[in-house]
Amino acid sequence: MVTDRYSVSGVHPENQYYPNSEILVNRLNIQNEDLLDEFEYLALDRTIQCFYEDVEARISFDSKLLKDIHQVFLGEMYVWAGQYRTVAIKKGHSTFAMPQYIPKLMEKFDRQIKQEDYLKQFSLEKLAYFKCELIAIHPFREGNGRTIRLFCDLLCLKNGQGRIRYPDGDENFKDAYIKASEAAVINADYHPMLELLRLGFG
Ligand SMILES: Nc1ncnc2c1ncn2[C@@H]1O[C@H](COP(=O)(O)OP(=O)(O)O)[C@@H](O)[C@H]1O
Ligand SMILES: [Mg+2]
Repeated sequence: MVTDRYSVSGVHPENQYYPNSEILVNRLNIQNEDLLDEFEYLALDRTIQCFYEDVEARISFDSKLLKDIHQVFLGEMYVWAGQYRTVAIKKGHSTFAMPQYIPKLMEKFDRQIKQEDYLKQFSLEKLAYFKCELIAIHPFREGNGRTIRLFCDLLCLKNGQGRIRYPDGDENFKDAYIKASEAAVINADYHPMLELLRLGFG
């Protein structure tokens, strides 16, 4: 069954919510959304510091790194952290890759990004393409957006590009970002995301 964040289905850990809530069952048993958001915020901050520190020494920017980021980010909170999801999910009109295809799709991602030498010859177009591939695959149960953004920031830093600036809290940008993600998932079109990345580097 395809589910979104708000629907309860089955007893799989990736689909277990606390009663009468939209909060996924977590290791810390946090059942207050604000508190969970705060924990995740702090965990993301620590994860960013941790991966920025050794970006220079890093060679491969692939599914292994993506999983490592997700594990460090959400490992304290969720049993499924660092692992590809096994349930189908959708957001709005977008249904992300079916879980049974995720390993093969990520292997393809690894081959393609390696072939591009992890963007040594950097271009925003290539970055937009790979970012949109990851958004369409949506490899994890939750936290894909934050994990993919950090992965892309690391790719940029490694290739001397500085960090992409996403205007946090800007509702117009947020809408545009969702629309660009939709274009990636529904039409396999990375151009709207490319436009946003251009703004982020402008
Ligand atoms: N309607 C949509 N269609 C396609 N992609 C979407 C849609 N809404 C959100 N997204 C994408 O999903 C990401 C959020 O995924 P999610 O797993 O919830 O990560 P996080 O919890 O870190 O925000 C967004 O950053 C965006 O790229
Ligand atoms: Mg989310």
